Formats: sequence, structure tokens, C-alpha cells
Amino acid sequence: MTSPFEEVPPPACAAGSLDQERAFSAVNAAFGSLGRICMALDADFRIRYASDLLMSLLGADAASQVRGLSIESLLGAELFGLDGPLRQALLAGEKREGWRAVLNVASGPARLMSVSAAPLLHDKLGVCDPAATYLVVLRPADESTVEASGPIAGFGLIARSPAMARVFRMIDVLQHSESTVLVTGESGTGKEVVARIIHAHSPRKSGPFVAVNAAALPGELLESELFGHVRGAFTGAVRDRAGRFEAAEDGTLFLDEVGDVPLHLQVKLLRVLQEHTYERVGDSQTRRTNARIIAATNRNLRRLVADGRFREDLYYRLRVFPIELPPLRSRREDIEPMARLLLSRVGSRTGRALRLSPEAVRVLLSYEWPGNVRELENALEFAATVCQGQTLQPEDLPPEIAPAAAFPGEEQAPAHRPRPVATASGVVDDLELKVALEQNRWNRLATARALGVSRSTLWRRMRAASLG
Ligand SMILES: Nc1ncnc2c1ncn2[C@@H]1O[C@H](COP(=O)(O)OP(=O)(O)OP(=O)(O)O)[C@@H](O)[C@H]1O
Ligand SMILES: [Mg+2]
Repeated sequence: MTSPFEEVPPPACAAGSLDQERAFSAVNAAFGSLGRICMALDADFRIRYASDLLMSLLGADAASQVRGLSIESLLGAELFGLDGPLRQALLAGEKREGWRAVLNVASGPARLMSVSAAPLLHDKLGVCDPAATYLVVLRPADESTVEASGPIAGFGLIARSPAMARVFRMIDVLQHSESTVLVTGESGTGKEVVARIIHAHSPRKSGPFVAVNAAALPGELLESELFGHVRGAFTGAVRDRAGRFEAAEDGTLFLDEVGDVPLHLQVKLLRVLQEHTYERVGDSQTRRTNARIIAATNRNLRRLVADGRFREDLYYRLRVFPIELPPLRSRREDIEPMARLLLSRVGSRTGRALRLSPEAVRVLLSYEWPGNVRELENALEFAATVCQGQTLQPEDLPPEIAPAAAFPGEEQAPAHRPRPVATASGVVDDLELKVALEQNRWNRLATARALGVSRSTLWRRMRAASLG
């Protein structure tokens, strides 16, 4: 079996003079003998030189297009986007080692690569191309050992923990599969995100992704939602209606909160999984479905089985391929890289380049995150709204996350009592706050002015009073 690394490499793409090409060729040979892929970027983060090994990994077609390509499009915005941590580090003149990225290669599954990046120091002889500004070195990451050193990026996600590295590998493995997948994890851990990614990287990616939330509908409605119904099947069924299984034909049916499916429907679901057949409600005609099922739940299905509330046979049918997303508090090393990624998303929606102060990072790292990634995302969105400048401080974060920082010198009021707002002119309770907001038509700036407080204090108090 030949690995892409053993193929005869096509010639390196090169820019600049012959001497400069030679200089890079020497660098390339040196890194190549260590099994490393080497790239030189210009000041705009575009690839100026790339080594033969990269070309052979990407395939002949891609090779000619690598030169001039942004590093972001090769290794992902999570690392090299405008606010990506590696771009930021390089701009600050710093080097980073051992980060990880998923590289889509021409043949075979995507490969996990270890990424190091540094500003390029120029040689004394002056043979280096002066336009080559940064150096990026890749090597295939050893997928059997998880290095705790650097974050992993790919599929639009970022993480650093061994637990999430396993999730990345599973998504990777599933790229050529249509197996049933069961995603479990507490609320807000990213179950739906993972389900969508699995679909988007599956052989069914051009088909539909249809989501049904079993907890949102009572049993009878859920049955007709999933399987459809015929006219007259029940009061209000005025015409035939196709169900979500039909809508998900050639695609994926995402069965969210599957632990909430009532027992009588669990039998029907089991039949779909075993025989791919079902009937619309009120119909005798048997229909076939080829929808791939990805199920998710934040409940402990094993316990539901033990309590007789979930069928054991269905449980085993669903967990053909189980993926467990651990809570954020048990993978704290993910908090910082994830916060930076989420913040860059929040910032790009509003056209701002936002950063986290070291103190804000410390606060994020010490919080328990009962609401997991969703809570982190909301906290950053909140902080981005409150923050006047570019750098988020602890006091910009919601009070439950940074209580001491949010109310310096103030005693924290117990949640059940009305929280007074300290203002220049005295103290305002929740009711007065509401009145002031009404009077100013909920314009926060005007209300803050009227109360003589800063916009951030007002915003925090609104949240605390459930008005924000
Ligand atoms: N690894 C991740 N990278 C970036 N964003 C993420 C990640 N995981 C979750 N998120 C974000 O967190 C939020 C919650 O994710 P999601 O809706 O997938 O959670 P969930 O597990 O389905 O939650 P629930 O059980 O409450 O439905 C989403 O806004 C999602 O974009
Ligand atoms: Mg969900």
C-alpha cells in the first residue's frame, strides 16, 4: 500500500527568483527529510511556497492552485481566519506549536495534521524571498496518541481535549458511513452541531437534513409528524400529509430528544430501524424509507431502559455508533480555544475584531458552565454587546459568570430579592428599572442616561431582572 507520502512528488510551486526558489528548495528538502510539510506565507497569509509533500497529499489538480491560496482556505478559519488564534499569534510576532487541523486530502479520508507556525526570520546572506513572511509547518498527527499540547480544528469546530479529539476522529470515520448514530450529552454540549456536521460530511450530504424534536410534540402529533397521516385520520386531518421520514428521503432524519419518544411510538421507530417500513397514521399502505437516522438525547437512556421507559431493543438499534459529548466543565482545556472561536463569530457578525483580556479568560476558565457551550456562546454575545472597546473584560461578562467583577464593592443581592441598581442619584429596584425602560421605549442608551448609569451596568441589571 502506498501512502500519499511515498508518491513521486510533483514539482514544488515557487515564486520569486531562481535563487529564492533554490533557497526554498533547500528548506523544503530539509523539512521533507523529517516528514514535515513546509509552507512560506506572504504578509497577507497567502501561500507563497509549499513543499512537494503538500502537493502530493492534495493531488495533482490542487497542486497548481496552491500558490496564492490563503492559508485560511487550506487549514480553516478556526485557526487562520481574521481573528483565528494562529493568525493573531503571527501578527503579534509569536510562534505556536502543536496545534491541529483537519486537512482534506485528494484520496482517502481527511487527515489530522499537527500545525506549527512562526514569523520567518530572514537569513544573513539575503537569499530568502523578502516577501516570505511566515512559516507554517505541518506533519501528520499521530492519531493514536492524543497530544494535549494544541487545539484541533476542523469541520467548523475547535477543541483541545482528548475527549473532543475522539469526537473529531469519529466524525472522520463516519464520512463514508450511513450507520445510525446516537449523540448523547448534556444540554448545550453541541449535539445538534455534531449531527449536522456528520450529515454534511456523509455520502448523503447533497440530501436533506430534517430535524424533529420529540420533546416538543405530544405523542399523537409526533407520530403524524414523523410518519405523516391520511385525511380523516384524526380531527383536523383535513388532507393527506407526508411525514418527516418522507421529507428525509435520501438524506438524514435528526431525531432530537429521542429519550422523550413515548413507548407506543418506540415500537414503530424500532420497525423503521429494522425494516425501513412504516405507515402513515390512519393508512394501511406500508411505505419504505431510506432516511439515515441520527438521534440525540440529553437523558440517560440506559437509566430510562432500567426504569422501563425506553425499549432496550431500540436503545441498542440506535447506539450502533454512539458519540458522547462530555460537559464543558470536564474538558476545561476546550474553553479558551472555543471562546476565541465563538468570539470571532460574534465579532464578524458585527464587523468587530474582539479579543479576550487575560483576566476574562481566567474568569471563563473558573466557571462551571452548567449550560455548556450554549451558555459560553451566550455569555460572549452578552459581553460583546456590553463591551465598549475591543477587549472583553471580566466586568463585561454576565453577573452569574463574573459576580465579583460585575459588582465591584457591592454586595451581591440574593436572587429572590429585587436587585437594586446603584445609580449616581440613588438606588433603583426592578420595578423602577422597568418603568425607566418603558419611559425610554426600551432604548438602552437613553434609559442608562436617565438613570445615570453606564450602558453595561444597565444591561447587566436588565439581565439580572430578566428584562434583557
Ligand atoms: N464545538 C463547538 N464549536 C462551536 N460551537 C459550538 C460547539 N458546540 C456547540 N456549539 C454551539 O453551542 C450551541 C449549542 O449547541 P447545540 O444546539 O448543538 O447543543 P445541544 O447539545 O443540541 O443542546 P440541547 O440539548 O439543549 O438541544 C450552538 O449555538 C452551537 O453553535
Ligand atoms: Mg439540541
